Amino acid sequence: MSRQLSRTDNLIQQFDTILRTLVPHAASASRANPAVGTQDAEMTDAERRHAAGLMRINHTGEVCAQALYQGQGATAKLHETRAQMEQAASEEIDHLAWCDERLRELDGRTSYLNPAFYAASFGMGALAGKLGDNISLGFVAATEEQVGRHLDDHMHKLPMGDRRSRAVLEQMRTDEAHHERWALEAGGARFPMPVKLGMRLMSRVMTKSVYQL
Ligand SMILES: [Fe+2]
Ligand SMILES: [Fe+2]
Repeated sequence: MSRQLSRTDNLIQQFDTILRTLVPHAASASRANPAVGTQDAEMTDAERRHAAGLMRINHTGEVCAQALYQGQGATAKLHETRAQMEQAASEEIDHLAWCDERLRELDGRTSYLNPAFYAASFGMGALAGKLGDNISLGFVAATEEQVGRHLDDHMHKLPMGDRRSRAVLEQMRTDEAHHERWALEAGGARFPMPVKLGMRLMSRVMTKSVYQL
């Protein structure tokens, strides 16, 4: 009976996370928004649209991160590292909520493609989890490395006046570097270059499509 209950609880919790991730404005951060106290300088309409496109990409990246952690949580053993993985996943919820808030400020919207990217990332996370903890943690590290590179690129591409988006991305950059370091220290495999290149190619498909859609 209690086993049945815990399985039901688990399913409800999974469903709750899916909803909080995919329904716009449903996620709430546990930490203060890093942009609090920062004022934007002047931006043209075109610059605001461009900034919204970039923040939409970052938001979808966080949707993927959430799905990845959830997929892994469903299949990986992670006896010693589950608590840390849950801590990282909760920081990704902060990122998701902050990107969502910033999109609203910029009169932007989240991507229509988020459900598809969520499903694909969940599947990849679940597969990595099945392949063993070192692969699973290696996948986290490789993903975070890529996200970090991508955030650096966006910080350059944001309009000069967009100081509030930049403040959010800077805190995200710090957090993602922690996640990468933790995953490697916990025994994550270092993925070979061809795998990383494949992941980079997929992320390019995501960024190109989400900027528009
Ligand atoms: Fe993140
Ligand atoms: Fe992360």
